[in-house]
Amino acid sequence: MLPVRIGVLTGGGDCPGLNAVIRAIVRKGIDRHGHAIVGFRDGWRGPLENAYEELTIESTRGILPRGGTILRSSRTNPFARDDGPDRIRENLTTLHLDGLIAIGGEDTLGAAARLYGNHDLPVVGVPKTIDNDLGGTDMTFGFDTAVQIATEAIDRLHTTAESHNRVMIVEVMGRHAGWIALHSGLAGGADVILIPERPFDIEDVVRLIRRRHSRGRYFSIVVVAEGALPIEGTMETVEGSQDEFGHARLGGIGQRLEREIEQRTGFDTRATVLGHIQRGGTPTAFDRVLATRLGLAAVDAVNDERWGVMPALRGTRIELVALSEAVADLRTVPADEYEAAETFFG
Ligand code: F6P
Repeated sequence: MLPVRIGVLTGGGDCPGLNAVIRAIVRKGIDRHGHAIVGFRDGWRGPLENAYEELTIESTRGILPRGGTILRSSRTNPFARDDGPDRIRENLTTLHLDGLIAIGGEDTLGAAARLYGNHDLPVVGVPKTIDNDLGGTDMTFGFDTAVQIATEAIDRLHTTAESHNRVMIVEVMGRHAGWIALHSGLAGGADVILIPERPFDIEDVVRLIRRRHSRGRYFSIVVVAEGALPIEGTMETVEGSQDEFGHARLGGIGQRLEREIEQRTGFDTRATVLGHIQRGGTPTAFDRVLATRLGLAAVDAVNDERWGVMPALRGTRIELVALSEAVADLRTVPADEYEAAETFFG
């Protein structure tokens, strides 16, 4: 392909590794292919409102280990307004852009898939999310860093839990998938792990904690995913507000468990909500490498005019898959993986 102009944006919740993708796109796009790269600001707001900056090798130096995104991000939904796709098309034309790389999770890539499928816009996606819940790929970057941060937190909570004979609840992110909870819980030696894929019975949780006590372990660690739910009618639940894509704002299950467990067992109980700490800061080496490989593959896809696809990790290889595959189904924790973790409960 002859040198072209490519737009790039980062949408949805940020995650460690986004800057590594941007750097790889800029480096290979400019140095190898002679393309020009335009960075849109604040996710889909950028191409909707023509908010952008030219990216150069110089302006993207030193960003590999930096968390967040130099382009900033938002949860703007281009389909929340009727003229969204037309405005994006218009702005791509005005800026003489031949293609757009959208780096994002379920919502950002869902919008990218619709812009390509229904509006014929030249879009390539790059999968990212700490939640690790995208289809079409075996793993997303950001997840490894989030698990590392959560595991370190669990290790720290372990020692103080033991000193005070306490039950410690650790609430982690993950939306409607339990990957962060499962992996950090396993790595951190949690005594109970609760995930959205398996509604829990509070009486089972209490039984496991009591069993530990009866075996002479007077402290327990419970890792709970923010989207975990009690079996209907067994415990109070609360509805959160919604974002532009109609997703509920999750969180609060940790505090509710704290109350329930303390009341039912009489054991001193404390909840810690890790929140956005899981998304901030420097990416692990694994996430930097995965993000870099995806950025390189995305720019190659644009170069080959392979629209409507995203590079994805399949086994150890990076392959191109249809964007529609990434957003068709949420990738959740399979039952057997959860059951393997149950070996260590209580
Ligand atoms: O999708 C990433 C994620 O961090 C989820 O785990 C979490 O539910 C959500 O984003 C939090 O979103 P916000 O940053 O808008 O509070």
